[in-house]
Amino acid sequence: MARKVILDVDPGIDDAVALAMALFDPRLEVIAVTATAGNVSAEQATSNVQAIIEKLDPPRLPRIGAAREPTGGRLADARHIHGNDGLGNIGVEVAELHQRHPSDKVIVEEVRAAPDAVTIVALGPLTNVARAMARDPELATMVGALHMMGGALGAGNVTPAAEFNIYCDPESAQAVFRSPTTKTLVPLDVTSRVVMTYDQLDQLPGELTATGTFMREILAFAFRSHRNVLGLEGIHLHDAVALVAALHPELFVTEELAGDVEIGGELSTGSTIFDRRPSPSWRPNMEVAVDVDASAVMDCILRGLSAIEMR
Ligand code: BDR
Ligand code: CA
Repeated sequence: MARKVILDVDPGIDDAVALAMALFDPRLEVIAVTATAGNVSAEQATSNVQAIIEKLDPPRLPRIGAAREPTGGRLADARHIHGNDGLGNIGVEVAELHQRHPSDKVIVEEVRAAPDAVTIVALGPLTNVARAMARDPELATMVGALHMMGGALGAGNVTPAAEFNIYCDPESAQAVFRSPTTKTLVPLDVTSRVVMTYDQLDQLPGELTATGTFMREILAFAFRSHRNVLGLEGIHLHDAVALVAALHPELFVTEELAGDVEIGGELSTGSTIFDRRPSPSWRPNMEVAVDVDASAVMDCILRGLSAIEMR
């Protein structure tokens, strides 16, 4: 039986890639895609989720959750990496959703409908997950598993210490880290080891299909931004790597660690702290990926994308 999954995303080029892979993966039943603010505003994130699903036209339509801005969140600019619209400036146009259900409400309803059977894959700031847990205090123990892309064991990417997803809403991240949910974190150090090279674009769905054109357009923008901004000849697909970790844990080395989030530091706000002392005084609260078979993970991503039905 396919695994029920909620994807919580802030699209975002790498979010879009992960979403495309998940929507066509027969091992997954994507019951909802919940938008969250991060790479783009709440409004744009919701439109992007809608646009991606419309463009890909998957066999089963998930529910869509609408994003709301985080209350105490910090704005971090990701336009230089993902484009002004988050999707490589492709010019997203969507009709107004008939009924807008807030993402946190959708999460609560879907988890409550299938206790212990829903995996949440959180690929943006943890605003929605924290709000869902605050909305329904029993929820944390009813989620089957929570997989998160975020944080860093070493250097950050938005500040020297902080990774983007955690930095955007550290209070929510802290609440989620401290929750009793079974959690896996795939941090920046690990996702950055997986690099897509330009020649691998040839393995994507055909250029003459809507799906193929969409994927190539957004990825072409990512190749340009990674070269211009980061000086890299390949691209990182952090969120797609985190999705692969949920599907193929055997490709990752994990450690059971005690993790928390700094919310008050002048230089360190939004950084993730792990108690890795030989005798830690914090209790382990999550599995953290510390190493990866990078080429096998890239193969999974390419296989996932090339399996998308072409329309
Ligand atoms: C994370 O930040 C975002 O820009 C990406 O979509 C990814 O989720 C990487 O730090
Ligand atoms: Ca993301």
